[in-house]
Amino acid sequence: MPGTVVDINHDETIQGEAFAPVITNKNFSKKFYIESYGCQMNFADSEVVASILQDNDFGPTAEFENADLIFVNTCSIREKAEQTVRKRLTEFKKIKRDNPSLLIGVLGCMAERLKSKFLEEEKLVDIVVGPDAYRSLPGLIQEAESGQKGVNVLLSREETYGDISPVRLNSNGVTAFVSIMRGCNNMCSFCVVPFTRGRERSRDPQSILNECKNLFDEGYREVTLLGQNVDSYYWQNTETNEIISFAKLLEKVAQISPLLRVRFSTSHPKDITDEVLFTMRDYENICNYIHLPVQSGSNRILQMMNRTYTREWYIAKVNRIREILPDCGISTDVITGFCSETEEDHQETLSLVDYCAYDLAYMFFYSERPGTLVAKRFQDDVPEAVKKKRLQEVVELHRHQSLQSMQKEIGKTAKVLIEGNSKRSDDHWCGRSDNNKVVVFPKTEDFKKGDYADVLIETCTAATLIGKIK
Ligand code: SAH
Ligand code: SF4
Ligand code: F3S
Repeated sequence: MPGTVVDINHDETIQGEAFAPVITNKNFSKKFYIESYGCQMNFADSEVVASILQDNDFGPTAEFENADLIFVNTCSIREKAEQTVRKRLTEFKKIKRDNPSLLIGVLGCMAERLKSKFLEEEKLVDIVVGPDAYRSLPGLIQEAESGQKGVNVLLSREETYGDISPVRLNSNGVTAFVSIMRGCNNMCSFCVVPFTRGRERSRDPQSILNECKNLFDEGYREVTLLGQNVDSYYWQNTETNEIISFAKLLEKVAQISPLLRVRFSTSHPKDITDEVLFTMRDYENICNYIHLPVQSGSNRILQMMNRTYTREWYIAKVNRIREILPDCGISTDVITGFCSETEEDHQETLSLVDYCAYDLAYMFFYSERPGTLVAKRFQDDVPEAVKKKRLQEVVELHRHQSLQSMQKEIGKTAKVLIEGNSKRSDDHWCGRSDNNKVVVFPKTEDFKKGDYADVLIETCTAATLIGKIK
């Protein structure tokens, strides 16, 4: 999920930034510190990077002051995301002035977008590595140590890092992300991802299953399968000719154990199939929650965005989800103020959001990204004040609806996977319900982290359900 979000629904966040307090018995000769921005895929990539670094004698540290190597894994999705990273790099550069042997590396989507320009613009960056080139990090670090600049921003058609066991960073020991594919072939006209992450490719299902099984054996109880468009996951076994679709993969992961919860993100409305919905219905441990970004409610804008579905198609999908999975949580992404968006288009977005009554929404105003189809073809002509005003209107409507969706849970019993202490009180557990709502409840002796608890919901805030063990 994106970095800079107007996320009005999460006053009790569970996952934080990817610092690296990993407990390890090994002594490493050098230390790295890594900070991640952007979507969950970037966080998952940082765990791949950590694994590559550990194999090369770099151990993680949670304090950048102690690091020999600082990495920032960056996001380009909106201008604001890039500004945040630039600000952070300026802070790190100050440390480097006092400690010239410190190496600073930029990873991820911004590295890919800006390539070696980064070295010219940000003079004190030593290493620039794109999302498909992390295997070359050890060599690039060596080059940087000898005073050269290390750059590799080659995109690949094959790389999935399938054989690398990620080192879990900032983990709660209960929930983990597992990448199942990389890249994106969709070419939504506003989006930088196809340029920063390259062509879509799926990861070998056996390596996904092994990773999930190992996580389960280590005590993890929830995996989130990640891809920009998980429904187009596709793998053909060259020996048996068996074809593994996303639904099939989901089923195989769910079969690891009924105690392992399975989530996934992101679904593209054009690709999610009935087969996936039926698989979700058939396996209790596949969570009833779908992130289904709509972007706009206006057919004219959807077409300009190259989303390849209409408002009516989208609504039919939402209806189908609710028919097959009546208790399914649905969330979305919305962009306001896209090129040429009129007040009428905006009203269409509001009415669609109203109809769908989302449990959670990530809402943004449009931010032009250099190199995208929109930047080449259309004018970014909606004034910023109008973009923001419309955003505020969508946010207000959603705030109202998400509170209602929380209130509907009062009096019901939620099966909660305990992820850890509540942020606000060590006397309370915090976890999530099957449909992805954060639940907080007083601790009792017989439950621990990683257990499932049946919690009677008694009250709620806009973002948190509050209850007690039944
Ligand atoms: N693959 C996912 C989302 C990837 S990016 C999907 O297809 O939905 C996450 C969200 O960022 C997008 O859904 C979109 O709402 C938002 N986003 C992407 N590019 C943007 C831009 N140029 N300006 C504003 N928001 C953008
Ligand atoms: Fe971007 Fe569209 Fe791909 Fe999502 S599906 S990553 S919005 S191009
Ligand atoms: Fe950002 Fe790249 Fe993810 S642009 S949202 S980090 S794929």
